[in-house]
Amino acid sequence: MMDLRDVRREYRGTPLGPDDLAKDPITEFARWMTLAREYQPEDATCMVLATSSKTGLPAARTVLLKHFDESGFCWYTNLASDKARDLAENPQAALHFYWYSLFRQVRITGRVKELSRAEAQAYFKERPIGSRISALVSRQSRAIASREELESAAREAEQQYADKDIPCPQDWGGYLLLPGVIEFWQGRENRLHDRFQYSLVDGSWQMQRLQP
Ligand SMILES: Cc1cc2nc3c(=O)[nH]c(=O)nc-3n(C[C@H](O)[C@H](O)[C@H](O)COP(=O)(O)O)c2cc1C
Repeated sequence: MMDLRDVRREYRGTPLGPDDLAKDPITEFARWMTLAREYQPEDATCMVLATSSKTGLPAARTVLLKHFDESGFCWYTNLASDKARDLAENPQAALHFYWYSLFRQVRITGRVKELSRAEAQAYFKERPIGSRISALVSRQSRAIASREELESAAREAEQQYADKDIPCPQDWGGYLLLPGVIEFWQGRENRLHDRFQYSLVDGSWQMQRLQP
């Protein structure tokens, strides 16, 4: 057994009160993301995406936030992956950000819709060549016998598209989560944290403080 009961640290975040928060959570999220990018430039945009299947089995994995605004939070992925199957069965999901150097987390839940093919194609073009090749050859979430098989498929695709545009695969695209609830959590000393939850009620955001 690995005993981890001694592993703990104090969360000494800046106090967070209702007057510090914007009226709408997207503006507030933009402030938090800006600060997170200063403190953790490499992984500020990492978020855990939690989905669940029609039988209620949950699954979580990290994906990268690619854009956000009032309409929602967007990421790109394989449309035949396990997460895509979950989202087809249950188009509701949760997103989670943890910015450890700021003692902060953000939790978001809402409905999810697929982005248009045109939006997926536009972003696909912006990706580095290596990422485009990998997206082309990877049947994400399916089993494969060896690493060699994967690398040889990538080499073949590299040759095939050496002087051609790499097409956006049919099973590659993006999703948009339309937020219904967004919670901002600021870690404080002695675990007496600050939590503020925004909920969308009849089209307008309402905010309340939650107990830690
Ligand atoms: C830091 C990090 C970023 C990732 N970003 C993405 C991403 O943007 N899109 C994606 O499909 N998978 C991404 N992945 C891989 C996913 O976590 C996951 O392994 C993959 O999407 C398959 O998930 P699924 O089988 O549940 O569909 C990332 C993993 C890590 C650790």
